[in-house]
Amino acid sequence: MIPEVLRRMRSRFVGLAGGYAERLGERREHIVLKRDHSLRVHALAARIVAGEGLAPALPFLAASLLHDIGRFPQFERFGTYRDDESVDHGDEGAAFLEGSDLLDCFAGPDRGCIVQAVRMHNKREIPEGMDPLAKSICEVVRDADKLDIVPVVLSKMQAAGPRDPVVTLGLADEPLAWTPSVLEAVVAGGNPSYKDLRCINDFALLLASWGPVLVHRSSRRIFAGRGYLDRLFALLPADPGIGALRADLARRLAA
Ligand SMILES: [Fe+2]
Repeated sequence: MIPEVLRRMRSRFVGLAGGYAERLGERREHIVLKRDHSLRVHALAARIVAGEGLAPALPFLAASLLHDIGRFPQFERFGTYRDDESVDHGDEGAAFLEGSDLLDCFAGPDRGCIVQAVRMHNKREIPEGMDPLAKSICEVVRDADKLDIVPVVLSKMQAAGPRDPVVTLGLADEPLAWTPSVLEAVVAGGNPSYKDLRCINDFALLLASWGPVLVHRSSRRIFAGRGYLDRLFALLPADPGIGALRADLARRLAA
């Protein structure tokens, strides 16, 4: 059963997104995109929390719903989702939540952990010494977030016609190109940073690299079950190095 508190939080979140969408007029589709992404991340987090037996579920579910709340003010002010060209949307979201009553139903420590998880959900690494509950919430949000970003970007990569530069980060659309250092980083089991990407195929390599490094087994099962590797590699050029990487990622994902 969905607790009433969560139902109310969801309806307030949707109302909030609606306010931004209305103010943004014809640019509203980018607010709707993040609203729907947040709702899907929330549903994915519920699957991970259930699969891993994490309890109580409520702080995880609230954080997953609100993790991208900073995207709305970010897009309204800057017209982009690129943090490196605007603000860090995790920090923006944490500040937003600290100044709102959205989390008033939580006791102080849980509330603090949710805000901390929202702040850190988009950072390259989770810092050492983070509160254990905040870290656990953050790991679920990061897994669920990645699981939903892949199909959103894939749908834009697969669409005919000009790419949506907001979703594909304005990267060069060169079907046969990739950046050797990005490929090497993924082959070595690393996780390139967004700033290392030059073209859309680099982005596909980055997304593929996420599968095996998802924290929870339930998350890796969802990544594998949804066929993300096949869909990403179908976009990449035929090349022996890329083919070998695909096989290696599939093996690591199933491990
Ligand atoms: Fe985010």
